Amino acid sequence: MRFICVLAHPEPASFTASLARHGMKALEQSGHSVDLVDLYAIGFDPISDRRNFVAAANPDRFDQQDEERHAAATGGFSTELQLEMDRLAACDVLVLQFPIWWLGMPAIMKGWIDRVFAIGRTYGGGRWFDRGLMRGKLAMLAVTIGGTEQAYSECGIYGPALDMLRPINHGILGFCGFDVVEPFLAYAPARKGDQERDEIFAEYAGRLRHIERAPRLPMLHSDDYEHFVLKTSRHEATRAA
Ligand SMILES: Cc1cc2nc3c(=O)[nH]c(=O)nc-3n(C[C@H](O)[C@H](O)[C@H](O)COP(=O)(O)O)c2cc1C
Repeated sequence: MRFICVLAHPEPASFTASLARHGMKALEQSGHSVDLVDLYAIGFDPISDRRNFVAAANPDRFDQQDEERHAAATGGFSTELQLEMDRLAACDVLVLQFPIWWLGMPAIMKGWIDRVFAIGRTYGGGRWFDRGLMRGKLAMLAVTIGGTEQAYSECGIYGPALDMLRPINHGILGFCGFDVVEPFLAYAPARKGDQERDEIFAEYAGRLRHIERAPRLPMLHSDDYEHFVLKTSRHEATRAA
């Protein structure tokens, strides 16, 4: 399978970056191909604005989604974004690898999504969830968390980690049509010794090698989304599709 691993960490010697390297090595040894997008290493610019495009559909007022529709129809994305979009289109599995920063992803990762997940490329046209443009691809979050597992449990101060990650798993990945597998979570790496870290690396390698067998997160279906969220009738939704 073709993996794309998007890594957001400023320090190559960090636990997060080491985890990414162990995962990539395991995949390559198993005969998979891996495309690493190391966002800090390539100096990815997370700011989304007119520079996303080579031309303007409307030079007077910037509306990102309108410009994305135009660029999708005319091949008008910047070279930098087109490269990332092509990588995404070619992959079977997307892995987003990052440390939790303020209960979410680092800004550089969010910027990659803001810019690369363009309407007309990863979503749009009334196609979402099981009819989404990314259907047929798997996605997984690989996340390091400073706090303990207890702090991210039902009775912990932050609540369950899956709830924290829900906007990414469901609102972004599932919405675009990815089949989303359970995230790989590594808690409190700073408190772990070498042996425990090695065990996490081995567990992660196993998870990636057998990602097709990993449990999938339950996801909304497009019919339910249209019926309960957009409030269109099932009849209208079927006609629109
Ligand atoms: C800006 C910033 C915000 C952070 N926010 C959180 C947080 O909300 N919850 C948490 O558990 N840890 C938080 N942390 C700790 C990181 O999650 C932790 O350092 C990281 O996962 C450990 O992996 P690393 O050694 O690869 O950086 C934060 C760290 C930074 C630098």
